[in-house]
Amino acid sequence: MKERISALLKREPQQEIVAAEGWVRTKRDSKNVCFLEINDGSCLKGLQVVIDKEKLSDPTVLNAITTGCSVICKGPIVASAGGNQTVEMASTDVTIIGECPVDTYPLQKKRHTIEYLREIAHLRARTNMFGAIARVRNTLSYAVHSFFQEQGFMYVNTPIISASDAEGAGEQFLVTTLDLDKLPRTEEGAIDYSKDFFGREAFLTVSGQLEGETYAMAMKNIYTFGPTFRAENSNTKRHLSEFWMVEPEMAFCNIEGDMEVAEAFLKYLFKAVLEKCPEDMAFFSKFVEAGMEETLRTIVDTPFAHLTYTQAIEELEKHNDKFEFPVSWGSDLQSEHEKFLTEVICKRPVIVTDYPKEIKAFYMKLNEDGKTVRGMDVLVPRLGEIIGGSEREADLDVLTKRMEELKLNPEDYWWYLDLRRFGSAPHAGFGLGFERLVQYVTGVANIRDVIPYPRAPKLADF
Ligand code: 4AD
Ligand code: MG
Repeated sequence: MKERISALLKREPQQEIVAAEGWVRTKRDSKNVCFLEINDGSCLKGLQVVIDKEKLSDPTVLNAITTGCSVICKGPIVASAGGNQTVEMASTDVTIIGECPVDTYPLQKKRHTIEYLREIAHLRARTNMFGAIARVRNTLSYAVHSFFQEQGFMYVNTPIISASDAEGAGEQFLVTTLDLDKLPRTEEGAIDYSKDFFGREAFLTVSGQLEGETYAMAMKNIYTFGPTFRAENSNTKRHLSEFWMVEPEMAFCNIEGDMEVAEAFLKYLFKAVLEKCPEDMAFFSKFVEAGMEETLRTIVDTPFAHLTYTQAIEELEKHNDKFEFPVSWGSDLQSEHEKFLTEVICKRPVIVTDYPKEIKAFYMKLNEDGKTVRGMDVLVPRLGEIIGGSEREADLDVLTKRMEELKLNPEDYWWYLDLRRFGSAPHAGFGLGFERLVQYVTGVANIRDVIPYPRAPKLADF
């Protein structure tokens, strides 16, 4: 394979002629020399190519080189006289592969706002910021797999089109091929989904958990990592309609084991990104969130705080005058409360447990008090909830009763309930919002900037 610019930059100066392929970020011309900076996405830094015009057979080719055009430059890697890099390429062989007209190319040398770049999402990976985000995202994906694979978890692919509502919250996108102008009706006048593609109602999945549980009840420890969809009308900096979720599920595991894995997992991911993306992380610390690397290093070395929901509410109630939505026992925690708990009260990541059953999903194990469930959310500064999980209700009768209370039809979940009929075992798991993770480690304020093509209410461009 041809060497990428990241590898060329690590070479010692030598005579061998090598090729660099990439896109021109900048061009500086003087009378006798022309300097190009070429980037190929392999690292933040570009390769400086110095072209001695007198040695070119046809120096006019250089006129067509502009920001954004693609080139192949050949020459030896030499020690650089400039202060910004140790090596550079001395080239006398430059080929323009694709020109890039200056008057219409939307990415000029100047700094663009992140909002403007969102409108040209198909080109934004060519900027320093979005290149760095893409590399960090890639490193984190790989680390997700290595963490679980190293511990013997099996990667399971759960369906994207699903017949059941895993969260029971009714926030699903319908998948249909029915003609919306001529909907088939039953005698009672309802839409007749038996005429639809799948012969029944089907949706984009909100979570792979329920199907994941079926595999955990055979393979013991599994994880999923795939896209999930929520038709929730949340126009915030931390919600997407399509996001990627990592969901481990472990049989013979209770909430304590679940929390242990969640904490070890996050720390592993933070460490991986510090070790594998030092240049990009330094960039985020400098331009996006001051001291991000140091913050992550501290988190890796410090145990997470723990609070029950009831303790959290007691703490928050003392500060109710500071909140847009004051809290009392039973309130769902909003992002302002989550941030206050982790930033002000605990000053580190905190795991909140034992939430009132009314504000959590049907599958969470009911505590002996009959009021709270064995759910756990991991909250981090600046963002709030990054992980949501629980021990699952393993008792058939309790689970069926919970579903009925929540107006879910147990018959629709017959296969899920079978897990409690046939060899039930305590089990637990959690979901990490992958974009929230990328958002957290990079310090990027808006979740729409950490996924290549964000989907949100009224937004599905590209
Ligand atoms: O808390 P949630 O809804 O939990 C579940 O879906 C469970 N089935 C997980 C499990 O136990 N296996 O979602 C889990 C995580 C949240 O903590 C958050 O990080 C992320 O997914 N998340 C979102 N990320 C971006 N946009 C949204 N709309 C999100 N909703 C949840
Ligand atoms: Mg949640």
